[in-house]
Amino acid sequence: MTYPLHRYRRLRKSESLRKMVRETHLRPDDLIYPLFVTGGENISNPVEAMPGVSQLSVDQVLKEVSNAISLDIPAVLLFGLPSYKDEMGSSAYHPEEPVQKAISLLKERYPELVVITDVCLCEYTSHGHCGIFKENDVENDQTLELLAKVALSHARAGVDLVAPSDMMDGRVKAIRERLDGEGFEHTGILAYAAKYASAFYGPFREAADSAPASGDRRTYQMDPPNTREAVKEAISDLEEGADIIMVKPALPYLDVIAKVKPEINVPLAAYSVSGEYSMIKAAAKMNWLEEKPTAIEMLTSIKRAGADLIISYFAPQVAQWLHE
Ligand code: PBG
Repeated sequence: MTYPLHRYRRLRKSESLRKMVRETHLRPDDLIYPLFVTGGENISNPVEAMPGVSQLSVDQVLKEVSNAISLDIPAVLLFGLPSYKDEMGSSAYHPEEPVQKAISLLKERYPELVVITDVCLCEYTSHGHCGIFKENDVENDQTLELLAKVALSHARAGVDLVAPSDMMDGRVKAIRERLDGEGFEHTGILAYAAKYASAFYGPFREAADSAPASGDRRTYQMDPPNTREAVKEAISDLEEGADIIMVKPALPYLDVIAKVKPEINVPLAAYSVSGEYSMIKAAAKMNWLEEKPTAIEMLTSIKRAGADLIISYFAPQVAQWLHE
């Protein structure tokens, strides 16, 4: 007697059959493309640890975005490289700095593009911490005022969503109140709700020039072995007024994505961070991994875990592959 063929085997017989019964679909619409905006003109500084990623001046950002739009990528996430840094990170809310300029030019040229900005101070402070830094820790409440100012400056430039990534307590509420108070009720908040103190941010700190000069971020970012706090952070950010919740990083925290998902009734975003990108790039360069199927499998697994949106440096490449 032969063992009966398992029905799932029957449904894997051909690519069209496999495609038809797939439970998860990765689409260009799911992708948010992060960009590093710097001053000057005609500048494209490659980030060594992130092949294919460069710090771009605003004119080059416009070019890169036009390509992304042609691949049906709906959204970008902007990080700034300011012209100066100080203790308080005051360049973060200066109206003439690269991010503010990029927002208004992008929205003018591409009104349908969803422009999202990272709201944090680490790229703007001389000490590289995400807030006002005193006695080896960040000052939570004083930092809130600054973050609200940064969010407001982005809103004035026309941003669609601000994405606070600092992990201060109460920041979503502080930003929501300030935006509403100034007439920006329609500017949304994508909250980095569960953000871990991860080693996977390594390459980003080169890209954004934001490594802390001393100490680390373990007092304000989450401890990797924990998940209960992630659910709590997501719920409290929702209550404070977040429109979209984010988990970060993505690949090493798929369980966190799956856990947070049923607890919230808004879209869930996951940030596939610099280290997730660089490790595939590095292995592909060594011919140890095949880049295209590995990248697609990684991003698909993030959706399968429960993410509605994925922030990824692979966005244009993956969108191109999905179109092929
Ligand atoms: C700023 C910020 C970081 C990342 C996004 N926003 C770095 C950090 O917290 O140290 C990391 C993104 C990436 O690694 O791609 N706070």
